[in-house]
Parts: sequence; structure tokens; C-alpha cells
Amino acid sequence: MTYDPGMLKEVLSTLDQRRDAALSALKDLLRIPSVSAKKEHAGDCRRCAQWVADHLKESGLVVTLMDTGGHPAVVAKNEHKAGRPTVLLYGHYDVQPPEPLELWTSPAFEPTVRKNSAGVDAVYARGAVDDKGQVYAHLEAISAWQAHGGLPVNLTVLIEGEEEIGSEHLEAFVAKYKDLLRADIAVISDTGQFDRGVPALTYGLRGLVYEEMFLTGPSHDLHSGGFGGFAPNPANVLAKLIASLHDESGKVNLPGFYDDVELPTAEETAAWAKLPMNVTREASAIGIPFDSGEKGYTALERMWARPTCDVNGLTSGYQGEGAKTVLPSKASCKVSFRLVPKQDPRRVRESFRAAMVERCPKNVKIEFVNHGASPAAVVPIDTAGARAALAAIGEGFGKEATFIRGGGSIPVVGLIKKELGIDTLLVGYGLPDDRVHSPDEKFDLDAFYAGIRTSAILYEKLAGLGR
Ligand code: BES
Ligand code: MN
Ligand code: MN
Repeated sequence: MTYDPGMLKEVLSTLDQRRDAALSALKDLLRIPSVSAKKEHAGDCRRCAQWVADHLKESGLVVTLMDTGGHPAVVAKNEHKAGRPTVLLYGHYDVQPPEPLELWTSPAFEPTVRKNSAGVDAVYARGAVDDKGQVYAHLEAISAWQAHGGLPVNLTVLIEGEEEIGSEHLEAFVAKYKDLLRADIAVISDTGQFDRGVPALTYGLRGLVYEEMFLTGPSHDLHSGGFGGFAPNPANVLAKLIASLHDESGKVNLPGFYDDVELPTAEETAAWAKLPMNVTREASAIGIPFDSGEKGYTALERMWARPTCDVNGLTSGYQGEGAKTVLPSKASCKVSFRLVPKQDPRRVRESFRAAMVERCPKNVKIEFVNHGASPAAVVPIDTAGARAALAAIGEGFGKEATFIRGGGSIPVVGLIKKELGIDTLLVGYGLPDDRVHSPDEKFDLDAFYAGIRTSAILYEKLAGLGR
């Protein structure tokens, strides 16, 4: 069948009528606790993959649940026809662990609709916006197109289950199934709008290097009176090493760290300066009186185009109730670096390890564990694909869309470029106040519905680009 350009109207009207059904399906998906980081949820991850697979099957796609060596990935295709562009849609069905559980207003895996702090209805659950709600927006658009004569593009869907743990098995998977995944352009909805009422196309993400560092002093815990003043204290040493990671101006204090950093262009920083960013408001939204970071850069520059180093967890000594005078044997921390274009994750890791070894007293043992890495990614915006995506977002949200970058990481973006040679359109529907990775994660319902419409419009616009 040839594609009928009048069909989008019908598709959108079907989608508007299906809003309650869409929300109820999303809630089913959100009830599956697909926490990729925890072994005990491996079965739930498989069940979640199966749920996504079944949904795509019902839309008439040919679906395979594929082994990756870790949690399964779902690959699905409609009937590919000659002469049409091929779109690779990527998303992830896995979610971050929900802890701390006691801070959730309603349980993490019992999706609940209530008003958010802006007075707008939202669905609350782990994965609501990261990434199940955004993936489901596409599943909904796909099924509506399929019910109206078929999608206007050749579509290959890849929904994986290990994004939140670094997409460890995906590199080999994408390399192995290059031919299966081959496409003209990739689409990912796993980012956000700039703000409520300011929808956006994200054209850049930071990369990530994740390390865990272990210090061992004395062979066993000691009485801190009996041995304080004699034995090295790994907790004290850890604090000193962590403190050494930044200088007074907020710069990361590692040799060579900034050598390869690519600055944003003057056009970019000028455009960012015009975005409606209210630093005081953003600070107060997260409960701080003012912001922090590297001196000499605006808040958006620091979040989108400057590399950072943050401790993500640390532990040592007595953590129980009351006081215990212990000189601990061990101390450890998890540290990650957000990277910007041209920084080499391997060099950053090596520089970190070398500096820590050098700065650590020689009577304390220091060891490292590599928890993965991915490079930063910036995609060109002067392309037909980017213009099509920007227009789709504008129409779907009923507001002019703008170009932004994001501070987070999506490892597959680099893999798609490296292995398949194509760019990714980051068409995000979330909001900065969605509390991703945190208790009370939510997805505003109007953003969910606008995301569904945007996805449907995007497939038509991409069809219009030809091959
Ligand atoms: N959806 C996020 C990435 C994201 C968040 C992009 C905010 C832009 C703005 C994704 O699920 C995520 O959390 N990625 C991890 C990657 C890591 C585990 C390799 C991240 O950024 O920490
Ligand atoms: Mn995500
Ligand atoms: Mn995430």
C-alpha cells in the first residue's frame, strides 16, 4: 500500500480518543519492577521485555526477544519497503532501583495519578518518564499508524534492558546485528523539554566514566584510642583524596583533564543565554539557596558543556546508631565523571587512577573497579532530520520547540554513530521536575499525550525526508 498523506489526521484523532486506554496500558507497564541493577529482578526484566514485545506484535510488527548476554532486548520491524527511509527507534525498559522506598508518596511500582506541585495531573511511578512513559508514547503512535494502513517509514525498534547499568552488553550486540539494525536515522525519546511550555530537541549529551575506589589501611577495625595516632585511617584518607579532586575555582584537579575539552561554539552559548533559565528558581526547586560549580561559566554551560566529577556514594566505619570509637580498616567510594565532546573516557580514567595512587599514603592500599564509560555525543542540528524533529515537537506540543543539550548520558548514542554511522534525534518529552532516578518520579499526563502526538507526527515528517 502506498502511504496516504491525509492519514496523519486520522491517526491523531484516534490517539486523542485513546488517551485513557493509553494511560491504563502505561500503568500496566509501570507495574513491572524491571530494575536492571538487581539480580533478583532478572525475571521481571524478562517479563517487561515480553510485555513490550507482545505490544509490538499486536501492532503487526515482526518481533524477536533477543539474548544480549544480559537482560533481553526487543527488536521489532514493520514491513520494510524499498524507497522509504528506515528509522531506528531506541528506548529502554529497565529502570533505576526505587530506593529509598520510604520517601515515595505512593509505592514505586503502583502507578498513581495525582496532581504535581504545578497543579497538573501526573502519573507517579519508577520509570514513569525514564523511560517507560516515553517508550510507550511511541508504542501508542506505532499502533495507531499500523491501524491506519501502516507506518509511513521503515521502522526498526530496539528496546533494551540495561541502559541504567551502562548498556554493557549493547556494544557487542549492535556490532553483531549491524545489518539487522541498519537505518538512515535513529530516534530516542529519553530526555526532556527545557521547561514546562518550552518543548525541545536535545542535540548533545555528556559522556560518563564511572569508577569505584577501595582503600584498605589496617587489616582489621581498631580501637581508635588504642591506635589513633599510629595507624592510617582510610576514612580520613578517602576524605582527603576526594577533596583533592576539585580546586578552589570548582575545576577538576586531575592532570590533563581539560586538555581535549571542546568548547561550545559562540553561536551555541549565545542561543543558550536566550533560554528562559531562572537560576534562583531552579535552585529553590531543589531546596538550595544558590547554585554551585566551576567559576566563569553559566549554569547551562556547566550542565551541558563542561565536564564534572561527582562522588555518587561513599562508605566507611560505623554506620549504626550512636557512637562507636572505631578506626576503620576500609573505606570506599563511587565516583563518576561527566564528559564533554573530545574527552577520551580511557584517558580520564587513567588520569584519575594515577592521581589517586600518587596522592594516597603508601601505607594504605588503593584499588579500583571500572563501572563503565561512554563518550559524549553531539549531533548536528543543520540537518533535514533535526529540522523535521524540531517541527514535530513544536506541532505535538503546540508550542515552538527549541534546541537544547542535556547533562545526562545515553551510551547507545555513541554506539549508533560508531557502528551504524548515523545520527540520533533526541526527542524528549520529560520535564526537569520529573525526579528521574529519585523517589516520586513522575510524568505529566499532558506531556505524555503531547509526546504520543509528537511521535506520530515525527514518523510522518521523517517519511517526508525520503531516503
Ligand atoms: N534518560 C537518562 C539520560 C538523561 C537524563 C539524558 C537526563 C538527559 C537528561 C538515562 O536513562 C540515564 O539515566 N543514563 C545514565 C547513563 C549511565 C547509567 C551510563 C546517566 O546519565 O546517568
Ligand atoms: Mn533513560
Ligand atoms: Mn535513567
